[in-house]
Amino acid sequence: MLASGRGSNVQAILDAAAENGFPGDVAVVLSDREDAPALDRARRAGVDAIHVDPLRKGARLAPTAEERILAELERRRVHLLALAGFMRILSPRFLDAFPGPVLNIHPSLLPAFPGLHAQRRALDHGVKIAGCTVHHVDRGIDTGPIIAQAAVPVIEGDDEATLAKRILAKEHAIYPEAIRAVLSASVADTRREGSIDE
Ligand code: GRF
Repeated sequence: MLASGRGSNVQAILDAAAENGFPGDVAVVLSDREDAPALDRARRAGVDAIHVDPLRKGARLAPTAEERILAELERRRVHLLALAGFMRILSPRFLDAFPGPVLNIHPSLLPAFPGLHAQRRALDHGVKIAGCTVHHVDRGIDTGPIIAQAAVPVIEGDDEATLAKRILAKEHAIYPEAIRAVLSASVADTRREGSIDE
């Protein structure tokens, strides 16, 4: 997983992966921020936690930093990468180099409100239904094919914090489920390919 901050989605995924029958393990949590609580959550769960210096400010990582992340993932044979509150944009080069699906969670009903401050912008627009989306990461920002969504009502008197909290509870439910579904589908694909080869 890649994370930049609090790591509540990292925690939800760690918890789900610890349950019997989850079709995978969390191999490593990497962060561009050394002080990210997400790294502590990984350590507490006995999962490798690595700070990767982004080597530059702004939205993107330096190519050397991306190469380091790819190397850490490759060493552990990671075949699904989940972005969980990761605040940087991965380059096309990174996305081409990583061999498996890359997933992201976003706190809006995409394609509405991609990018930063999604909950605040949803409130500013006066939406009545908000929510969250798990999607495949492509070269755009929050534009890839949608895997799962959950909706929540906007309640009279909501502010950014109350709405974000209501959405977050749904994020914690749909992200592990979406990962489970993608992992199970890729295992099924491998089996099908295997049976064609045999
Ligand atoms: C979540 O709202 C997620 O949708 C967004 O950033 C926030 C991260 O929260 N991409 P956390 O670090 O998982 O607690």
